[in-house]
Amino acid sequence: MLTSLQANILKFHGRNFAHHLFFRFIDGQSEPAATWIKEFASTRLTTALKQLEDSKLRRSDQNFDGGPIFTLSLAATGYDFLNKNDQKPDSITFQNRMRNNSDLLLDSPDDWDKEFTGQIDLLIIVADDNNATASDEASQIISQTAPFAVLLKNQRGNVLKTEVGVGIEHFGYADGVSQPMYLADEINDQEQPRIWDDKTNLDRLLVKEDKIDTNEFYGSYLVFRKLNQNVLAFKDAEGDNREALPSTKPDTALLPRVKDSSGNDNIELPGAMIVGRFENGTPVTMRSNEFQNDLPPTANLNPHRPTNDFDYSDDIGELALKCPYHAHIRLMNPRNGDPKADPSDLRTHRITRRGMPYDDNFDNENVRIPDEHILSITDDMLKKQKGINVGLLFMCYQNDIANAFEILQGFWAQGDIAPNADLKGIDSIISQASQDSRVLPEQWGVQGKVNPVKFDHFVTMKGGEYFFTPSKNFLMNL
Ligand code: HEM
Repeated sequence: MLTSLQANILKFHGRNFAHHLFFRFIDGQSEPAATWIKEFASTRLTTALKQLEDSKLRRSDQNFDGGPIFTLSLAATGYDFLNKNDQKPDSITFQNRMRNNSDLLLDSPDDWDKEFTGQIDLLIIVADDNNATASDEASQIISQTAPFAVLLKNQRGNVLKTEVGVGIEHFGYADGVSQPMYLADEINDQEQPRIWDDKTNLDRLLVKEDKIDTNEFYGSYLVFRKLNQNVLAFKDAEGDNREALPSTKPDTALLPRVKDSSGNDNIELPGAMIVGRFENGTPVTMRSNEFQNDLPPTANLNPHRPTNDFDYSDDIGELALKCPYHAHIRLMNPRNGDPKADPSDLRTHRITRRGMPYDDNFDNENVRIPDEHILSITDDMLKKQKGINVGLLFMCYQNDIANAFEILQGFWAQGDIAPNADLKGIDSIISQASQDSRVLPEQWGVQGKVNPVKFDHFVTMKGGEYFFTPSKNFLMNL
């Protein structure tokens, strides 16, 4: 199976730089397209097996470089163009395309960036630790595909990491921490006492394409969304610059203050209660400040690797007073923190995130984070960008888009449907709806006065599509 499954599905490719190449096929050119894709699949495409073997080698030798990663995904229209209608993945949601599911997602496709408003057939991802190598490989692919495909967008992305190696997104929060796990070494490497187990069945991720003799071939559905992040507005509204404000400058914070467990003001706490984690990744349901030196050893928090071993079992009530029901990570993965839902059912809606930050400010040296700094990002560098042309290339894999991504985005983040409709409130990070009923307690973990929260729309959808990442076997047989 691993010799035919593409890389980046079971495990993040982990490269620093990536080019996401979006194409539309040219009418009448399906034969040269199929010929090129077959050749590409046999010579360049990275398999899951190669990725796993390379990551083993890297663990034993830190200098080992597995080289570039290449993946290829098709939109429903791509299958039609290649005359593979009979083998098109059968999900109606996938076949409908993202733009036609906009009633549920609350998207406005007419306002998306123009490169994403038309038909997208093909997505090729090229990633490498070296920026120049990734760019060269991308350029080669663009020129080789020109006879049969129009390049709609070459979307660059790059990781952002703090000095201690924690991956972050543009608002400055640790990201990519909590993920379903499919591989024995990752599963067995989880922290103890393992309050929360990320072990997940492969059938949440993989879709069987074919069985030939004893060989089984698998692919996976890929959701892509380009999400712009208005960093400066978010930071102002979050209130974490309140202390630095000169007395003449008005406080622009939209989030109310929240006192920590000792009754002290903590300017980082309201933001943490909106996301569900502090910027360094510490889960806010576990504690009311991000400093971990007064923790008992059992808490097992490591600043270099934010913990994922927690649940919400002692944070349940009419209002969750430590990590609110409307916190982004609690909505996206309620764990066992929804008193009205069956935790095993909630687990069926998990997605495997493979996103990457982007920074489109190529021509603006005053704003752009230079490549040499992407592995040692500070808060000041993020704020300097002001949130113009930066954000997240959100990507996730799953075995069923309707039952995974669309439940999370369409219902849990911005709808009124379970889990826990009467308690939760919309997601302050990704909801495209508005709502005024959310509150934060005046003190973390303490019942009493609550204050209203009106904090949303710092993320804007720029465009996206639903893809399927087929097996190498499928591509070689075009
Ligand atoms: C710009 C947009 C977004 C930002 C800034 C953002 C930020 C974050 C952060 C900081 C975390 C916590 C760290 C972690 O556990 O990895 C997180 C977790 C998560 N996010 Fe997002 N996110 C965004 C978009 C989305 C979207 C569109 C979805 C799905 C519809 C999503 C689903 C999740 C999930 C499933 C988790 C893990 C929750 C858990 O298992 O505890 N995110 N996100």
